[in-house]
Amino acid sequence: MSSFIVAQAVEDYAAAHTSPAAAHLRQLAAETRKTLDSPQMLTGEIEGRFLEFLVFLAQPQLVLEIGTYSGYSALSMAGALAPGGRLVTCELDPERVAFARRHIAAAGFGDRVEVRQGPALATIAALDEPFDLVFIDADKGGYHDYYEAVLPKLSARGLIVVDNVLWSGRVAQPPADDDTESTRALRAFNDHVAADERVVNVMLSVRDGVTLVRRA
Ligand SMILES: C[S@@+](CC[C@H](N)C(=O)[O-])C[C@H]1O[C@@H](n2cnc3c(N)ncnc32)[C@H](O)[C@@H]1O
Repeated sequence: MSSFIVAQAVEDYAAAHTSPAAAHLRQLAAETRKTLDSPQMLTGEIEGRFLEFLVFLAQPQLVLEIGTYSGYSALSMAGALAPGGRLVTCELDPERVAFARRHIAAAGFGDRVEVRQGPALATIAALDEPFDLVFIDADKGGYHDYYEAVLPKLSARGLIVVDNVLWSGRVAQPPADDDTESTRALRAFNDHVAADERVVNVMLSVRDGVTLVRRA
């Protein structure tokens, strides 16, 4: 099954009609595919541009990203930060942390983007300022806990953006015995958000599914 929700030809057409990514993002993506494992985790050009638009509109002072990988989404969002805005991104894996830090510095964003190595929940607990925009894109089994940890720290007009909520469409199939832990976790997470009276949300079929959440 494709990791995209819409047909590949439609996805390609949308990509061809989206402003191209900056050269430093294309370089990062090419080196990620060549040297890191799991390059399918890159958010890619459409979702990267979408995230950049959200930052452009929200003008956040503090963006929190949960799941850095090689830094593509972090650098996409950083491109639209207003003066004074900053982004903290969380990553467990030291090789990915080093890769992302190198590309962030080379692109000239080292003053605004900080990669924190370690479990995201510990990084969230250590941050005191309100989050204006949070991008959740780490282990799917952790989504519920990340959401519950960031929601109380969300600023009044803050936005939570959650990736992979459609999980190649598997969450929309009837539950089956051979469902993976991630499929089960994402189904439960999506139900939790939809029933949560503290928030308003919209689930979009961008790439692998993106949910936007704000306070009610
Ligand atoms: C889907 S990738 C992130 C992709 C990235 N946002 C991008 O667009 O390129 C998820 C990342 O989350 C990291 N991760 C998994 N569990 C984590 C945790 N508990 N704390 C921090 N990072 C974690 C993984 O090592 C992996 O690199």
